[in-house]
Amino acid sequence: MSPATDIGLRAAVAWGIIAFGAPAVAAERGDAARGQALYVEYCSQCHGGRGEGWGWGEKIPPPPVPIPDLSNAEHMRQLPDQYLFEIIKEGGEAVGKTRFMPAAERVMSDERIWDVIAYLRSLSRRVEVPGKQER
Ligand code: HEC
Repeated sequence: MSPATDIGLRAAVAWGIIAFGAPAVAAERGDAARGQALYVEYCSQCHGGRGEGWGWGEKIPPPPVPIPDLSNAEHMRQLPDQYLFEIIKEGGEAVGKTRFMPAAERVMSDERIWDVIAYLRSLSRRVEVPGKQER
């Protein structure tokens, strides 16, 4: 097998896991540290510094729909990785929500989106399992 084919195959296997396998494993694949930098740049204005909600303060009015608390473990537990991936990549309307949640596909590759998801998961994991060493 040529090296190029080998890499393509490995990518396909990896995406197979992400698309069909255990959601928890998919989030583990992303790099939460890299995801945090992206989150701060592209998401924190609306979702707050740590996912808690509106971060623009008084500068502009908040969107006319509530901003979900992405740091709430109870809430996040109910959202599968694949759902997070779709709404982040394609925006709110792709999953039946509103366009006030913008699509990130123009500014992030799929791999970077998984990094952001890994970071989002780390926000609630800290609340959920206080004893676990996650840094
Ligand atoms: C312009 C403001 C804005 C930006 C920027 C933004 N979001 Fe959102 N996001 C929203 C709003 C508003 C909603 C709720 C949409 C609705 O209910 O229709 C939302 C919903 C979500 C949800 C769904 C949560 C749930 O409970 O279903 C996730 C996940 C999410 N955003 C992640 C992100 C990530 C990650 C980024 C950065 C890549 C980001 N958002 C950037 C405004 C924003």
